[in-house]
Amino acid sequence: MAEKPAIDVLQSDSQIFEPDATFREAANVRDPKIYERAAKDSEAYWAERAKLLTWSKPFSRVLDWNPPHAKWFADGQLNASVNCVDRFAVGPHRNRAAIIWEGEPGDARTLTYFDLYREVNAFAGALRNLGIKRGDRVAIYLPMIPELAISMLACARIGAIHSVVFAGFSAESLADRIADAGAKLLITADGGHRRGQIIPLKRIADEALDRVDCVENLVLVKRGDFPLDFKEGRDHWYHRLMQHAPRWTEPEPMNAEDILFTLYTSGSTGSPKGIVHSTGGYLVGAQTTTEGVFDLKADDVYWCTADIGWITGHSYIVYGPLACGATCVMYEGAPDWPDRGRFWQIIEKYGVTKFYTAPTAIRTFMRWGDRYPKQYDLSSLRLLGTVGEPINPAAWIWYRDVIGQGRCPVVDTWWQTETGSMMISPLPGLIGCKPGSATKPLPGITAAVVDTDGKDVKSGGGLLVIKKPWPSMLRGIWGNEERFIETYWTRFGKDTYFTGDGARLDDDGYIWILGRVDDVINVAGHRIGTAEVESALVSHELVAEAACIGIVDQVKGQAIAAFVTLIEGANADPDIAETLREHVAAKIGAIARPKTVLFTAQLPKTRSGKIMRRLLRDIAEGRTLGDTTTLADPDVIEKLKTRYEETD
Ligand code: PRX
Repeated sequence: MAEKPAIDVLQSDSQIFEPDATFREAANVRDPKIYERAAKDSEAYWAERAKLLTWSKPFSRVLDWNPPHAKWFADGQLNASVNCVDRFAVGPHRNRAAIIWEGEPGDARTLTYFDLYREVNAFAGALRNLGIKRGDRVAIYLPMIPELAISMLACARIGAIHSVVFAGFSAESLADRIADAGAKLLITADGGHRRGQIIPLKRIADEALDRVDCVENLVLVKRGDFPLDFKEGRDHWYHRLMQHAPRWTEPEPMNAEDILFTLYTSGSTGSPKGIVHSTGGYLVGAQTTTEGVFDLKADDVYWCTADIGWITGHSYIVYGPLACGATCVMYEGAPDWPDRGRFWQIIEKYGVTKFYTAPTAIRTFMRWGDRYPKQYDLSSLRLLGTVGEPINPAAWIWYRDVIGQGRCPVVDTWWQTETGSMMISPLPGLIGCKPGSATKPLPGITAAVVDTDGKDVKSGGGLLVIKKPWPSMLRGIWGNEERFIETYWTRFGKDTYFTGDGARLDDDGYIWILGRVDDVINVAGHRIGTAEVESALVSHELVAEAACIGIVDQVKGQAIAAFVTLIEGANADPDIAETLREHVAAKIGAIARPKTVLFTAQLPKTRSGKIMRRLLRDIAEGRTLGDTTTLADPDVIEKLKTRYEETD
């Protein structure tokens, strides 16, 4: 059954904010019958949506469903870069800003659709000149600079599969992802700016490349004037390549089912998995939801604060908004640099109208206080969105009142790396919002809350599943069909997608996401597998055994608590706790650094050797313990509690 909610999502079922009349009348989607129509014939609905894209060969088939393998628009051909760039680089749209970029130090660049078209064509040609062909994998490890979007679109143009790795990941994590994908080329930068510091990306990339042998070439973007080692023959400056690149590069006609990209995410076991997304279906999902949920209009300035290294950035900075011809703000750095008003200053500066961020960020802003947003003119805002983790009603209300000044609908959007695009979210002109609920499945999406036998729950808690295929669904896990079937299509059979989330359905049919029910921790909206952190910990010479759990964190939703057994003779002290925290950060990346390290002589296990995580959670959060009768050694708990009190 569903785990306990991580935060107080259950408070205010009945409070509902209906769309205001002016918003409703002008909304892109305002006919409530859309839900019924899409439910009656979802294939017709998706086909209608797909026809809004530009196809070099129109599709005649909509869905081939051979559970759990779906093919959407399979006999059609299209190119994602044509859909995101070329079709807006002509006519009245060509001079419209596609990307308004702001660097952390305050430098700025605006690329119109025509500028973007030129850059994408040139870089696509440069990649081809380096021998990159259709189906090859290209790893991208860049800060939030326009070249990141350009690189993705250039890969898409020539049919190469991109694999973006978040620039906060360590050399080892980057190497693992490059090796798993078998990437032939890596695109990185000399460095990136973050909270006044410079992240030495090239140095990390060099370290990663020492560990893999598939990468033949490295393309290096010059972000600053940062020191680096340049390896002649292997390394190529981006700006030099661009000087000799063609102005036009023929887009590869891709089959709808050809892979557009892979993106790694954490699961409950083993190493991160490369989630595979298609070209046609993915683009249909991203475009449809961007247009409908953000209610995008011609004069909008839209800003999603996610990093492109995560799925949110893929779908809602790059592919969705650009496929709508939108104007997007992209920001390189931290929200508190040079001060805590930076986001609000950016909104004022560019007149941002639609703003999409994460609950962790909202809770942080709330803690910093109203005085920062109050210093800026936020009157341009028309809609606010959240994603990545459950939002507690208090934060939702603060977001609506202080940032949205009570005028803006707040859309809480539930989805996953695997779903490719939003699944449960209000359409802001049609659905009233309840603070803390992602509301209802979008048209064409059949989400349901079921009990452990897979039976629909009419009202109350259960597990969240998707009962019918949808265009932007994952097509697999890169190189691991077995894990794909096992993770998503076994629990409730091959035709029901299991999300891994617990959820509750209320009496009005609203869905409340309760959080993960597997061994995945959601820290500040980022998925981290306990198994990954545990394996990083035990790789340290002083650690004999480790178990990690998610504990409630007022700002980040969840934080990582690590229970560690040291080898004989090692002393548990604060210095070692700090060393281990740093060790995990160096192995995986700073996002995986445990908040708390608790030393214990033994871990509580069942007689069959399974670590009792629920007990660890109770201990870490100071709750009275539940049933401990299955423990192999009941004394462990007493010892462990003692250690906890000593080291907390
Ligand atoms: O637990 C859910 C949570 O984030 C998980 C997906 O993480 P990831 O693949 O990294 O994608 C995050 C961005 C789409 C989900 O299984 N989650 C995502 N959105 C919400 C959410 N939990 C509650 N409310 C949301 N709006």
